Amino acid sequence: MKHPLIAPSILAADFANLQHDVEMLNRSEADWIHVDVMDGVFVPNISFGLPVCEAVHRHAAKPLDVHLMIVQPERYLEAFAQAGAATLTVHLEACTHLHRTLELIHRLGCRAGVALNPHSPVHLLEDVAADLDLVLIMSVNPGFGGQSFIPRTLTKIRALRTLLKQAGSRALIEVDGGVGLENAGELVGAGAEVLVAGSSVFKAADPSAVIHALKFDHQTLVTSDAKS
Ligand code: DX5
Ligand code: ZN
Repeated sequence: MKHPLIAPSILAADFANLQHDVEMLNRSEADWIHVDVMDGVFVPNISFGLPVCEAVHRHAAKPLDVHLMIVQPERYLEAFAQAGAATLTVHLEACTHLHRTLELIHRLGCRAGVALNPHSPVHLLEDVAADLDLVLIMSVNPGFGGQSFIPRTLTKIRALRTLLKQAGSRALIEVDGGVGLENAGELVGAGAEVLVAGSSVFKAADPSAVIHALKFDHQTLVTSDAKS
């Protein structure tokens, strides 16, 4: 069983001292830095935008995993690629021409991800599965950190695992929202390969220790349909 990639979300970091928190992530066993961009339209909250992404990129030694919770994300893809994004994830629910948007992300030289809200079924990805590098399954309704994990996510991850296999897609499965030590093992057992964690990392007394534990120390439950 492979260890998951860990992508701490700086939404839960100290915005008055971002450099400190990014340097902590550089020293930690985190694999990516998750950057949550919210526009107050697609989600009922505003987080930060391009200047903050650029500033984080200046100090980050790890790839930026940019999660765009914005309407018409295609208008900003080039700017976020220039601001240092390695992965650009757009929401299925925010894209009228998703296939075209994914092509644009690839032309910009980034990994292309699609995020699904809790109400969106995974089968909606069937016709783009082969074009994806990553699928982000929202395990809370997007907009805020610190919410409770929606248990049905586990069933969804298993269904996505099957769909990607059938499509011959190598897309990574990422889970975002309410992820912590109490559910990391079950998520990896179901097929999650990237764990996003905001509050469970940054609200901890020792964030690096939680990152290590999320990656290595949880009890992994191996299920029959999990990737070997
Ligand atoms: C929620 C964001 C998440 C958020 C997760 O809309 O997409 O990335 O930061 O925060 P926690 O881990 O606190 O649920
Ligand atoms: Zn996110």
